[in-house]
Amino acid sequence: MHSDSVNSDRTTGVSRRSFLRIVGAASAAATSFPAFAAMQQAAPATAQPARRGRRGMQALSPDTVIISANENPLGPAQSALTAICSTAATGGRYHEDEYMKTLAVFNEQYGLKNDYSALFPGSSGPLDLALMSNIGPDKPLVYGDPSYEQGPRAADAMKAPKYPVPLTSTYAYDVKAMLKVHPSPGAYYIVNPNNPTGTVTPKEDIVWLVNNKPKGSVVIIDEAYTHFSDNESCIDLVAQDKDVIVMRTFSKIYGMAGLRAGFAVARPDLIDRFNNVGGPSQSLASISITSAAAARASLQDKDLVSLRKKINADVRSETLEFLTKHGYKIVPGSQANMFMVDVKRPGKEFQRAMLGESVAIGRTWPAMPNYVRVTVGTKSEMAKFQTAFVKCMDTAPGSANGAAALEMPRFHVPSEFARG
Ligand SMILES: Cc1ncc(COP(=O)(O)O)c(C=O)c1O
Repeated sequence: MHSDSVNSDRTTGVSRRSFLRIVGAASAAATSFPAFAAMQQAAPATAQPARRGRRGMQALSPDTVIISANENPLGPAQSALTAICSTAATGGRYHEDEYMKTLAVFNEQYGLKNDYSALFPGSSGPLDLALMSNIGPDKPLVYGDPSYEQGPRAADAMKAPKYPVPLTSTYAYDVKAMLKVHPSPGAYYIVNPNNPTGTVTPKEDIVWLVNNKPKGSVVIIDEAYTHFSDNESCIDLVAQDKDVIVMRTFSKIYGMAGLRAGFAVARPDLIDRFNNVGGPSQSLASISITSAAAARASLQDKDLVSLRKKINADVRSETLEFLTKHGYKIVPGSQANMFMVDVKRPGKEFQRAMLGESVAIGRTWPAMPNYVRVTVGTKSEMAKFQTAFVKCMDTAPGSANGAAALEMPRFHVPSEFARG
């Protein structure tokens, strides 16, 4: 893949950032432009992908409600689809225009200087690079518990000691405890709002950690769900040249999980450090022109975020109201497109029972084994969820048969795909 670009990178010694600007080929779907355009018109935004188990045996039935992976049921915005269609025809060439134009729009919107951000196909890849380039056997990772598993997974890959720190009683990151847990970690990983709880850590707590952390460590703030919340972004800390890396994705509010686009936002020296991870990351880093164009169109779509934020918040509060009214216990305070609910039995068992009712809910976390994470879907999806939830809760623990959980291939997929 992109062997021309990789070779010229090696032989001319151009910087990592120059390499990142070299945009890869457009998706295979774009090779027949008119057919692709027609397909886009025909496919509803909420179309269910065919999800298969490892042995290709267990496809989800088409009527399954998928509220398991914190995707956006609304899919990409119309503005993004239009941008994809008008860009796809030029996908026969490697070119960096779309990449550069999208970076420029993002940098302008966030008051960032050039070279303080890089665009990738999704945020999982650059999140690994951000983590792995700052941790190692003598540089531990400090993170919240429960939180997104990609942090500890990267620590395992780098043989970095792991320091999980329990969330506070309000499910925020306990920054004081995080600071105390080790004198010189390589990185602190904060997901804000947090996955799986959806809860928010006040910005002033993060600023306090940034200002008090030991020299030589970085604070990685994963803002995958920030658009759903009222919380303030930490991107301004990057603009102030702090030791901070902010991750952004287009997989959540922008509904582009399958299209893949995300930003790493950091001082140029921290982005250059991604280079140290090496390996195949270079050739995996280039975003297709169609996704770059769709990301830019989404950023420029003026009312998109506020509209979708409201839709999500309305459905979320209706659902949580239903659950609390019926006496079920939830983790309060979610400001994201997910919430956790106590199912009073091993979450995995409940997940399987729900799948038997054609509702695919999210996974469970070792720190809260009797809770499951549920993604906020559409109003009608959440109505089906409610019916199935009550039915499964009314079944005695240990007695439900349910469907076998789907196993997804584990190679190079974001953690959200691993729905064991
Ligand atoms: C907290 C968090 N970070 C990063 C990601 C990765 O998302 P993507 O690779 O689709 O940008 C996810 C996906 O669900 C997530 O929940």
